[in-house]
Amino acid sequence: MKQPLENCTFVIFGATGNLAKTKLIPALYHLDMDNLLPEGINIVGVGRRIKDKEEWLETLKDDLKERARDELDTVVFKRFYSKLSYFQSYMKTTEDYQNLKEYLEQKSFSKNIAFYFSLPPSLYAPVASSLGKAGLLKEDNSGWRRVVVEKPFGSDLDSARNLQRHFDRYLDESQIYRIDHYLGKETVQNVQVFRFANILLEPLWNRNYIDHVQISHSETIGIGSRSSYYDRTGALRDMIQSHLLQLLSLVAMEPPVSMQAEDLRNEKVKLLRSISPIPKDAVSSHACRAQYTNGMIDGEEVNSYLEEEDIPEDSVCETYAAMKLYVNNWRWRGVPFYLRTGKRMAEKRSMVAICFRQTPKQFFRTSQLQKFEPNWLLIGIQPDETLRMELTVKKPGLDMQTQVISMDACFNEGTSKDAYEGLLLDVMEGDHTLFLRSDEVEESWKIIDPVLRSWASHRDYIPTYPAGSWGPEESLRLFEKESQNWRCSLDPVKD
Ligand SMILES: NC(=O)c1ccc[n+]([C@@H]2O[C@H](COP(=O)([O-])OP(=O)(O)OC[C@H]3O[C@@H](n4cnc5c(N)ncnc54)[C@H](OP(=O)(O)O)[C@@H]3O)[C@@H](O)[C@H]2O)c1
Repeated sequence: MKQPLENCTFVIFGATGNLAKTKLIPALYHLDMDNLLPEGINIVGVGRRIKDKEEWLETLKDDLKERARDELDTVVFKRFYSKLSYFQSYMKTTEDYQNLKEYLEQKSFSKNIAFYFSLPPSLYAPVASSLGKAGLLKEDNSGWRRVVVEKPFGSDLDSARNLQRHFDRYLDESQIYRIDHYLGKETVQNVQVFRFANILLEPLWNRNYIDHVQISHSETIGIGSRSSYYDRTGALRDMIQSHLLQLLSLVAMEPPVSMQAEDLRNEKVKLLRSISPIPKDAVSSHACRAQYTNGMIDGEEVNSYLEEEDIPEDSVCETYAAMKLYVNNWRWRGVPFYLRTGKRMAEKRSMVAICFRQTPKQFFRTSQLQKFEPNWLLIGIQPDETLRMELTVKKPGLDMQTQVISMDACFNEGTSKDAYEGLLLDVMEGDHTLFLRSDEVEESWKIIDPVLRSWASHRDYIPTYPAGSWGPEESLRLFEKESQNWRCSLDPVKD
């Protein structure tokens, strides 16, 4: 539940990194522009490479200019600048943390402190422990202490549990904010409103009416400069374990008792726990992986994954992953949920596509109509934030011909805020609704762990797909029926 916005000190570890530059600082700037930050907030960047605030600012300016919603406003920027400070630290020794503690104990700094770990995941445990030992995570009457961690939370079930054990030593669950910026997206939040504020959907939202559900996230970009991270991680961990399973839980969970964070998170966990485990010997019929070869994107030739910088020539890291999951509960038993993600695909698009069952056709049995498209409900997350319902209607004319039309509810035209803006404000207001609880993380790893283990033991071969395509042919084997196929576009399916 949101608490009143109190003054606070917002410490960013890894202030010199990409996330801080491209997301966190622009989000804080926009919050300041909208007068949503606490009046006396201090935003403290902590980094190794950079010496002082001036140098830090030089590295931030270009991204800030590029990402500012309107032109960079000099008055707002001056005000924002006065809220920033920088503390150089290698974040290694006990002395480093004692110095940081002394720095944060300055009179002008609030005792409410949020520590944002914008750091390589391998540092989450040591930094949390060092902060804990320095007494910086202990809450008392003078102020709260919160820690924000970026995904990934571990790299498999064991490492996630291990990380949690480190956190448990110095932090209570209520102090931890595991961020998944996907949950901050407007359309993702709208899934809940759309489902629970519209009674006409509820009777249809189950195995009696839904044939299958597809949740997909495709990107046209490759791995960019993230080769060392990506080659250790792969598409399954990077996208499916976190973002896509979160989307699945929002689409399929039961209505929570209330909009309170714990009620919502309880339902999401319950849903994740209802997903049938993938048996060891059935991984290939439930999951598919592949890697891009060279191909064309937007009319330009692009390299294969193996030709990307610093990628080992024998890498079998998947840049594409797809899964079929079943939710073994009263509502969903027997309905397949297909999840798919990939880099260097034909289009950048995130969407949830819900395919309804076919109608009984006896009414049309004497007409020349042979084929009907099923109804689809499409929730576009990016780039189009939209909700689209496809229906079959009669084509105007003397013949009995049909066509698919779509009813479109487009939201957020041009006023979109970055997901990080809302999420950072939630941290300051103590609202956990859009953050993951430790048991959610654990359940997500349990779902994909059998696949990770199987793929890790088959390191001699990986199927490929050309860059600029919709992925490998092999993924079609996941479908239960011939009538099922990947839905790639928000536009009606053409014969
Ligand atoms: N970038 C994104 O859009 C994005 C999206 C989702 C999640 N994330 C997650 O967010 C975190 C940060 O990502 P990023 O893209 O900003 O990474 P990054 O560009 O590599 O920056 C990481 C930061 O950590 C610091 N750092 C690295 N090794 C360190 C060490 N041994 N001791 C102290 N500081 C160290 C770096 O300092 P130096 O500059 O001194 O090297 C840098 O400030 C990662 O966990 C990533 O998985 C990022």
